[in-house]
Amino acid sequence: MNIQGKTALVTGASRGIGRAIALELAQQGAKCLLLLARDRHRLAEVADEITVLGVEVVILPLDLTQTVAVNIAIAQAWRDHGPIHLLVNCAGVAHQSTFLRSHLVDVEEEIAINLMGMYTVTRSVARRMAAQREGRIVNVSSLMGKVAAPTMATYSATKFAILGFTQALRGELSSHNIGVSALLPSLTDTDMVRDLAWFQWVKVMTPKQVAMALIEGLRSESPEILVGWQSRLAVWCNRIAPWLMERILLIASPQIE
Ligand SMILES: NC(=O)c1ccc[n+]([C@@H]2O[C@H](COP(=O)([O-])OP(=O)(O)OC[C@H]3O[C@@H](n4cnc5c(N)ncnc54)[C@H](OP(=O)(O)O)[C@@H]3O)[C@@H](O)[C@H]2O)c1
Repeated sequence: MNIQGKTALVTGASRGIGRAIALELAQQGAKCLLLLARDRHRLAEVADEITVLGVEVVILPLDLTQTVAVNIAIAQAWRDHGPIHLLVNCAGVAHQSTFLRSHLVDVEEEIAINLMGMYTVTRSVARRMAAQREGRIVNVSSLMGKVAAPTMATYSATKFAILGFTQALRGELSSHNIGVSALLPSLTDTDMVRDLAWFQWVKVMTPKQVAMALIEGLRSESPEILVGWQSRLAVWCNRIAPWLMERILLIASPQIE
């Protein structure tokens, strides 16, 4: 897909990877960007950065757990600024804990935003894309959607689920001329990971590197876009020798109570 002259909706665009993706799409010549997240002030700051590039920007200050409000806002955005050619489902949350000390409220939040939030936006946008027989959807999973690691069980579960969701939709929506793929960042320097205990030996990526990988993946129509050589090595190792990967993960995992 060539983003030039196209309209894209990016969730989680107020900061981190979503913000970097929005900026990169603008630099690549997008015509209009719709930016969704809760924090209106931060969204406005990102919008200011993008407007100077000559790109039309619309901010959608929304909480993805508010299904009705999200559906109404997307319907209005499509009517006023559509059609949307590209949807990037990037909003997400992560909680780190040993499973035995995990809190139900954290697990519920991960499921509500990472899965149900993605479902809500995708359903609303995909129906409209299907009607116009054109579209591209990218769901942001994680390397932890391929290789699950101690202390991140429920986060990993949501990211594995996103890959299943993505694969099923890819098959189902292809007859409507809608491409569906997944972006799998590895550890990236954003607010999300600042308070987490990090895994050993993992090379930290920048949000810009993730955004560049997305642009390349859009160009090459990759169904699953891995970011960086470490991710490719981890996925390959997990496929060839899963027992070895599990041992490595155990040693590399942070020792938290
Ligand atoms: N950072 C990493 O190492 C890493 C690695 C692999 C995958 N990922 C994935 O990449 C995506 C982006 O992560 P990030 O690192 O950029 O995290 P981040 O810096 O914490 O940003 C998360 C984004 O999600 C939005 N968000 C959170 N809850 C929301 C809600 N209820 N409604 C609407 N928007 C909401 C936040 O905006 P507001 O707070 O303004 O609502 C923010 O824009 C996530 O799906 C994450 O799982 C990250």
